[in-house]
Amino acid sequence: MKFIIQGGLNQAKLQGTIRVPGDKSISHRSIMFGSLAEGTSHISGFLEGEDSLNTLRAFQAMGVNIERLGDGKIKIEGVGMSGLKAPAQALDLGNAGTSMRLLAGLLAGQQFDVELTGDASLSKRPMKRVTEPLAEMGAKVETCDNGRPPLKISGNQTLTGFHYQMPMASAQVKSCCLLAGLYAQGKTCVTEPAVTRDHTERMLKAFGCEVDISSVDTGATICINGPAKLIAADIDVPADISSAAFFMVGASIAADSDITLLHVGMNPTRTGVIEILKRMGANITLSNEKDVGGEPVADIRIQSADLKGINIPKSLVPLAIDEFPALFIAAACAEGQTVVTGAEELRVKESDRIQVMVDGLLELGVKAQATNDGMIIHGGEIGAGTVHSCDDHRIAMAFAMAGLRASGDIHIEECDNVNTSFPGFAELAASCGLNIQAIDD
Ligand code: S3P
Repeated sequence: MKFIIQGGLNQAKLQGTIRVPGDKSISHRSIMFGSLAEGTSHISGFLEGEDSLNTLRAFQAMGVNIERLGDGKIKIEGVGMSGLKAPAQALDLGNAGTSMRLLAGLLAGQQFDVELTGDASLSKRPMKRVTEPLAEMGAKVETCDNGRPPLKISGNQTLTGFHYQMPMASAQVKSCCLLAGLYAQGKTCVTEPAVTRDHTERMLKAFGCEVDISSVDTGATICINGPAKLIAADIDVPADISSAAFFMVGASIAADSDITLLHVGMNPTRTGVIEILKRMGANITLSNEKDVGGEPVADIRIQSADLKGINIPKSLVPLAIDEFPALFIAAACAEGQTVVTGAEELRVKESDRIQVMVDGLLELGVKAQATNDGMIIHGGEIGAGTVHSCDDHRIAMAFAMAGLRASGDIHIEECDNVNTSFPGFAELAASCGLNIQAIDD
């Protein structure tokens, strides 16, 4: 599939009130914890995108009865911590890095062998960051060349709790260790070098597991005691702030825009995008703030604004890590220079998001320069052109929003993976005013 966004003289604006699909991180975890719990869990607002559906299918393949009731409602009959069954074949997780890294921890403690595979993009992503700490716990997980998937996990290993000082700020690695810790003897602690998303900790508590957290400004130490057990819970998955980010940027850069995004997850470990956009001058207001099952949510109103370039503080990077493709588009439309540093993790996402975004921005006539750990962007005019998303969903959606300011049409190649996190993106964006066409090629 490719996107064509009509730019030019009659530039579009974004208006209306919408709800973007459910949070991907929370959706993955709801399936995992619901499956391991004792009792029946009901999930609402579940993201029915390819990534979280791959997690759902993986647990069905391990014998869990999971029913899709329609409209994001899911019923899971938990099998308990030792109730999973060996799947008949390798579990194919498609594009879903979160699924593979969290499952590596969770499956390291089972009584059966299992293999985890993924698509071409996932097969290039680094897995030593999870297999090394798992080996310290006594797990046996083999990777392919150079620490890449597939992962071959051997069952029947005795795991022992440990204290892991995480070398990078990664919620996936933290969660992997904690999930293995559920099956380990004794205490497992993870210390993060900077604050990372804490959905695992929050949801473990919601499923009745004791989690000990001591936080300092630079990150937390999280401890759990194994072996642990989980009790069924009902989860209301908020709209994904990472999906909302495209509309926040789109409405900020397109004149006369005014859009409201409903029931968006406002977990403070995820709101870096709002803080960064506000520092750039964005007009963002929150209302209806409340807590839903341990996760804060709010409605977000965004009106167009004249953005200015800034130096993005490194401390905000992990809190907005998935939103940089969209933020680079905001920077391209801002007055002056925006500098991003401390964002080397962007190079090992679904694509090398620094290089792929720079290539696309240059193609559209924006002055942008890649650095090892970030980018320098000079805001200015956006031209017409063809950009390659390199099969990365967030790159495709970010460039779609650039069409709101482009002097001509933008063609975006390889957009199928938008379905991994945001099914219906083109239709929803069109309903708010983006001149977008999705074409099968
Ligand atoms: C995720 C953590 C982040 C993020 C990813 C989802 C998660 O990765 O980029 O899309 O659900 O735990 P890190 O492991 O780099 O924090």
